[in-house]
Amino acid sequence: MEFQEIRTELTDALAAASNLKTLEEVRVHFLGKKGSVTNATKSVDFSKLTPEEKRGVGGAVNSLKNWATESIAAKKAELESSPTSESFDRDLTLPGSGPQVGTIHPIRQVQLQLEEIFRGMGFRVFTGREVEREFYNFDALNIPADHPAREMQDTYWLNDGHVLRTHTSATQVRALKKFGAPVRAIFPGRCFRYEAVDASHENTFYQLEGFCVDRDITVANLIAVMKSLLGEVFGREVKVRLRPGYFPFVEPGFELDFECTICSGAGCSTCKKTGWIELIPCGLIHPRVLEAGGIDSKEYSGFAFGCGLTRLAMMKFHIPMIRLFNSGDLRFYEQLAGKS
Ligand code: PHE
Repeated sequence: MEFQEIRTELTDALAAASNLKTLEEVRVHFLGKKGSVTNATKSVDFSKLTPEEKRGVGGAVNSLKNWATESIAAKKAELESSPTSESFDRDLTLPGSGPQVGTIHPIRQVQLQLEEIFRGMGFRVFTGREVEREFYNFDALNIPADHPAREMQDTYWLNDGHVLRTHTSATQVRALKKFGAPVRAIFPGRCFRYEAVDASHENTFYQLEGFCVDRDITVANLIAVMKSLLGEVFGREVKVRLRPGYFPFVEPGFELDFECTICSGAGCSTCKKTGWIELIPCGLIHPRVLEAGGIDSKEYSGFAFGCGLTRLAMMKFHIPMIRLFNSGDLRFYEQLAGKS
């Protein structure tokens, strides 16, 4: 068959092909192993041609093949992009493939929820610094250079003497200086410690710090705020208990535990059979911290707490391994999208 005839035939066949199935038949008919383009090119006996002719015929063969391939591909694209009812040979009941949109990271979801709850209680949201001065991370919090409490926090030091903050408490004195008293504020954010990584420890984690400074603030205010917070997060009333805890920047200091929401206090693997989950270290702000922030500690008192956001997200979403949060594994994030 002459090349020109093939072109005409293929052009007509393409014009008539109204769906992908027919188009595939056309492709096989022309470009398949026994297709007419293939046959036509095979039928040329190159051994009988002069080099000059070889070049001419070879060029014509290639251009026919390329043209046929491109025309079929173009028709395919056209059929795929403008689906008429006829061209649909796919399963119409399959879900659409919408655009891939990102989701909010599970820790961020919890953070946003907490911000909302605290705003409702009159707290403002303040952002501290991840790279912090030694003074705010330690000294201003009543942790002088020779204090053993520094050793409890394995710190990343920068060459210029700054630190990657080991806790969001580093923002307390900054906030006191900025806002004065009375003040209610929370400061959520990322913290860093040179930790040995295990199922529940990471070198990077999130806390949500908060404090309230006013006249006559007592432990009763602290408990009331913590109970409202947990009640909102878990959607029901949650029992809490305070145990003594030591932190140089609070006096008295506590560990606030809440009754395990998974076993309701009966004891399970999440609460290590104790019925209680240790979540929020807190206490009444040490007078030295208030003074470091320029607040008269005889006139004002306050409470402070440092909630482990990462820990809370693990509890809320039943996540057994902390590393998943920073894994970048989409399968993990997609499961938790919009769950809070
Ligand atoms: N900053 C402390 C920590 O990270 C927690 C804390 C915050 C304790 C506020 C008391 C008051 O361990």
